[in-house]
Amino acid sequence: MYTITLIPGDGIGPSITEATIKVIEATGVPIQWDVQYAGMSGIEKYKDPIPEETIASIQKNKTALKGPLTTQLGKGFRSVNVALRKEFDLYINLRPAKSFEGVPSRYSNVNIVMFRENIEEFYSGIEHYIDAQKSAAETIGIVTRFGSERIVRAAFEYAVKHHRRKVSIVHKANIMKYTGGLFLEVGRQVAGEFPQIECNDIIIDNMAMQLVLNPHQFDVIVTTNLFGDILSDLCSGLVGGLGVAPGANIGKDAAIFEAVHGSAPDIAGKDIANPSALILAAAMMLNHLGEKEAAEKIHSAITETLKDPSKVTRDLNPNSKIGTKQFAQFIAERITR
Ligand code: NAI
Repeated sequence: MYTITLIPGDGIGPSITEATIKVIEATGVPIQWDVQYAGMSGIEKYKDPIPEETIASIQKNKTALKGPLTTQLGKGFRSVNVALRKEFDLYINLRPAKSFEGVPSRYSNVNIVMFRENIEEFYSGIEHYIDAQKSAAETIGIVTRFGSERIVRAAFEYAVKHHRRKVSIVHKANIMKYTGGLFLEVGRQVAGEFPQIECNDIIIDNMAMQLVLNPHQFDVIVTTNLFGDILSDLCSGLVGGLGVAPGANIGKDAAIFEAVHGSAPDIAGKDIANPSALILAAAMMLNHLGEKEAAEKIHSAITETLKDPSKVTRDLNPNSKIGTKQFAQFIAERITR
């Protein structure tokens, strides 16, 4: 029996987590859910967007499945997601972008895995206005040798383990000669330890264009925090948008699995959200736990269900009347069939 922290989250979060649990239950993997709160629901319950109870639960269980959290723009609390990544040193943001038949998109057969450094650089939170008049502001981006090495190494180790052919190191070392330069230098060093994996390095602006022109030339991508944030959404766009984009935040001692999309307040409480991204994140979680067969079952059940336009939610087929619960039910039935 696994004990896993479950953060249902805000907006559509509770509905898509409920759907995801139904699908996981169908695999038969025994999980006890330790339900915790964060974001707006953390504030409502504990007056704290990241309650101590939630932190303690993740510390104890080491694995969490998390629904999207609403972050207030501008003032208010810092992003809970960024804070959780820091708290647990979740330095890997792993985001696969894979085409699914039945999900409308510009390309088919895209299969890219993004490794984004998840803690350093412009998300370090070191920023301020230079004076009381707010005449200028600065954000300090710190890139360390240690942080660069471990994310590039994670990408190469993944490539070896999953029989991938190539790793692309994305940077802006031509302009940011120190931060970008350090990341590239360390990246090339680590690449040298993996002669069996093809490696290229590519400047971020060219990368954005190349991805749009021909995504099939890419396999595993590794990059710094901000570029990774932007490029992974771009990659989601190549395969039909955020509705089918899962993500994992992984560190040495803990991992948090989530959908890439947000809490979608515009459609919350209507049973119309597409739970695919969180269900795919749950499959990544099961893989991480070593439950490879269950993960594969979920993956193939969702792949098959998405192929049938009469079984998908309305974001994928505007004529569909299928809701979140019903869609999850179709997937669960395929798994138990
Ligand atoms: P969003 O991803 O919540 O929504 C963007 C658009 O996509 C909306 O039209 C929404 O209805 C649609 N959408 C999103 N997920 C969907 C799904 N599963 N099924 C069908 N349609 C879906 O982004 P938005 O509106 O910018 O952010 C809303 C809130 O979510 C904000 O407070 C933001 O900070 C937060 N957020 C949280 C994230 C997280 O917890 N990991 C990630 C991104 C945003």
